[in-house]
Amino acid sequence: MAAAAFAQAPAQPPAPGAGRGGRGGGGFGSAYPQHAPSDPAMVERGKAIYGVNCAFCHGSDARGGEGGPNLIRSQVLLNDQNGEHLAPIVQKGLPDRGMPKFDFSLAQISDIAAFIHSFRVGGYDLSRMAPPSIVVGDAKAGEADFQSRCASCHSAAGDLKGVGSRFADPKVLQQNWLVPGSGRAGRGGPGGASAANVPPATVTVTLAGGKKMEGRLLRIDDFLVTLAGADGFEHTFRRDGALRVEEHDPLEPHKKLLPTYSDKEIHDVTAYLVTLK
Ligand code: HEC
Ligand code: HEC
Repeated sequence: MAAAAFAQAPAQPPAPGAGRGGRGGGGFGSAYPQHAPSDPAMVERGKAIYGVNCAFCHGSDARGGEGGPNLIRSQVLLNDQNGEHLAPIVQKGLPDRGMPKFDFSLAQISDIAAFIHSFRVGGYDLSRMAPPSIVVGDAKAGEADFQSRCASCHSAAGDLKGVGSRFADPKVLQQNWLVPGSGRAGRGGPGGASAANVPPATVTVTLAGGKKMEGRLLRIDDFLVTLAGADGFEHTFRRDGALRVEEHDPLEPHKKLLPTYSDKEIHDVTAYLVTLK
């Protein structure tokens, strides 16, 4: 409702886009071409939520580049006024595209939207903020989550020993356990792991007679599949009807887990992994 105070007839024609939706106000149009000025209290709350939940993928200034796209230029947010277009994406996530879901209320999502709308769409933004620490979870709870969710494949004293030092930047650590091997910006930097840590996809080919051949997947399309066999040779098979091909993506379990994490779990597990020095 704060916007109502600015909604008197503007002296100049409204800026492009300002007339769309109910809230496009007048005089502030040039700095905020798409949105009326946001309520500062909402922006502050939204900034706090955004900073620990979204910034590590979408960038602290929401311009993307750390695994998530630019949100300021996103059509979703350009059309959004109070979080109504943002809410379904945040609450459901985009699991097959690498974004987890978050159990935020609509009020919290309006706050996030207010924060994102407070940036200018074009030009360099002075309100670029220093990224806050994303380590805000409870390490003890994270350890319990780890035991129930991760310990079937990983061990804190084994393969993940020192993971908190290996990924010195908690943002990179968080990206890596959420979506390992995603090859996003930040990997390979100091403390980052190289993609070589992720085992290659393998494939099992079952020939018409029932004979099986397994190996590292080199190439696959609708017609041919090529694998590197244990014998050290490349084998190429024509994919006719009798041939059965099973691909094994070693990261499949992780991809399946992504949509099941709550945001609390994400923070708690990261807080725990950071302690594995
Ligand atoms: C683990 C990384 C990650 C986190 C955390 C994350 N996102 Fe995303 N987000 C993505 C990816 C990846 C996409 C989809 C990119 C694509 O379209 O392929 C995406 C897409 C989106 C989109 C759709 C953009 C468009 O134009 O299609 C919105 C909106 C969005 N995210 C908002 C948020 C908000 C708000 C948060 C915090 C509550 C958040 N995201 C947290 C990775 C993330
Ligand atoms: C079903 C098995 C499985 C489960 C469950 C699983 N992971 Fe993984 N994880 C893998 C595989 C396979 C890889 C890729 C191989 C690798 O890098 O060690 C991987 C990679 C990782 C990496 C990257 C390791 C590196 O050195 O780059 C981290 C961190 C990680 N997982 C953390 C977790 C956490 C935290 C959980 C629980 C929330 C979890 N994983 C659940 C199998 C699993």
